[in-house]
Amino acid sequence: MIIGVPRESASGETRVAFIPEIVGKWTKGGAEVHVQKGAGDAASFLDEAYTAVGARIVGKAEAFGADVVVKVQRPTVEEVAKLKTGGFYVSFVYPVQNLDVVKALVDRKTTCYAMDAVPRISRAQTMDALSSMATVAGYKAVLLAAVKQGKFFPMLTTAAGTIAPAKVLILGAGVAGLFAIGTARRLGAVVEAYDVRPAVKEQVESLGAKFIDAGMSSAAEDKGGYAKEQSAEDRKRAQEILAKHIAGADVIITTALVPGKQAPRLVTADHVKSMKPGSVVVDIAAKQGRNSKPT
Ligand code: NAI
Repeated sequence: MIIGVPRESASGETRVAFIPEIVGKWTKGGAEVHVQKGAGDAASFLDEAYTAVGARIVGKAEAFGADVVVKVQRPTVEEVAKLKTGGFYVSFVYPVQNLDVVKALVDRKTTCYAMDAVPRISRAQTMDALSSMATVAGYKAVLLAAVKQGKFFPMLTTAAGTIAPAKVLILGAGVAGLFAIGTARRLGAVVEAYDVRPAVKEQVESLGAKFIDAGMSSAAEDKGGYAKEQSAEDRKRAQEILAKHIAGADVIITTALVPGKQAPRLVTADHVKSMKPGSVVVDIAAKQGRNSKPT
């Protein structure tokens, strides 16, 4: 069996689907692994690290022409055309939002495993790429915000006086939001968080943050533990309740998502106008349509 690891083509994408450690496991097991030249460069895994564990460095056509192709980002329609007919393909796909790609995969008779569609059940936890990436996103969002905004995160008491801690507001407290809360708390910020799912309140409080109650109900959560889309009326009420918290925040990190839908708009242009000069919004939901509207 030949496994192909193409170089990612999406702008700004620095990840690679297989790191050398994983490639080594497959070559040891008898598979041949074809890594596109430079595929790991942006993730700091150079070609030599791949050849050292038995991979072959190949061109784009050969990487896409393998029996099983593994990528991070969904394929483009042009990339699907390079896949072997009747082969296997693994990456994030988001099929509902990318029907043209799904159609191309069907035409190519590809068996496709969408990492975003792996069930979030205990048995499949080792394959849960959404959670691992959400953890990284929540962590990085706080670090980015801490660098971008001008204040210290922790409270400082010095001979010259006291500096108040930064106020961080996290909207959406799923995997990314909870990790963002933990990171901001460890940096010493005062943290508030909001989510539509009532089950989250206890988790937020256990991390030392204050939960903002905007009248959420258990009807906001589906059987799988995900949020349902709010009605326009409920969203408007939440936006009103959030207004004073947004105006007082130094940093807002938005992570709210509803599977298969556009990200809910929680921070309006008026909210952004009400924020203090120098404050920062990091919108992790940007790719799914954004939680915040710029002014
Ligand atoms: P997600 O990425 O789909 O959404 C992020 C957060 O945004 C969620 O907490 C959601 O409730 C919130 N949200 C959606 N609409 C909102 C709105 N209008 N206002 C405010 N917040 C809004 O969710 P994620 O992080 O993937 O986790 C969803 C659930 O799945 C959680 O209950 C989590 O514990 C569970 N899960 C279970 C796993 C398992 O292995 N059993 C693994 C990972 C997650």
